[in-house]
Amino acid sequence: MKKKALVTAGPTRESIDPIRFISNRSSGKMGYAIAKALGLKGAHVKLISGPVELGTPSSVELTTVETAEEMAAAVFKEFNWADIIVMAAAVSDYKPASVSSRKIKKEERNIDIRLERTRDILLEMGRRKRADQILVGFALETEELIKNATKKLRDKNLDIVIANSEKAQSSDTADIWIIDRKGNRELNEMSKEKLGEIIADKLLSRN
Ligand code: CTP
Repeated sequence: MKKKALVTAGPTRESIDPIRFISNRSSGKMGYAIAKALGLKGAHVKLISGPVELGTPSSVELTTVETAEEMAAAVFKEFNWADIIVMAAAVSDYKPASVSSRKIKKEERNIDIRLERTRDILLEMGRRKRADQILVGFALETEELIKNATKKLRDKNLDIVIANSEKAQSSDTADIWIIDRKGNRELNEMSKEKLGEIIADKLLSRN
């Protein structure tokens, strides 16, 4: 039977006012490469993407979103459908507590923007996950990469965590650790396209 894969990719944007937003440097390349490879290897792939400058792989069905809240809604709509879920999106952890309906004009004084937490989509999925679903998360760490990534795997009830350093951001290559619940880990350094294929093979060969 065709495996059903849900993949997220890219950054989210959280509005401050009609002109400005908070976002991050995610290019979406890693998530797109995984989605593309899963599709080419025979899976039915639904890709949920934040704003990126990448072409849509022909092997996937694309939904575009902007905010963390829209990403959450799109993910939970497909959560039960999916056998494999890869949460590669760089979802914003915070959003402005209120969004100004008008452009904020500058004044002499400094201003504060109060930020509030967004929903942790991956954490919620880890709580709801069925035994037959494979849940994959990403961890971008600047220090103690393996230790922090392994903690994320346990805390969020993931099957696999893919750990990388900030060097991978907006680059075409990445060195990543693929870590599973048994404590197995492997280091791969290559193009994101090739890494996408390795990750897709790994996921499709699991029962
Ligand atoms: N993620 C998510 N929903 C969020 C934030 C992140 O689903 N609101 C997912 C990302 O897609 C990624 C993983 O969670 O797969 C990253 O974990 P996270 O704990 O957010 O990492 P950091 O943002 O680096 O958090 P911390 O500051 O705790 O290291």
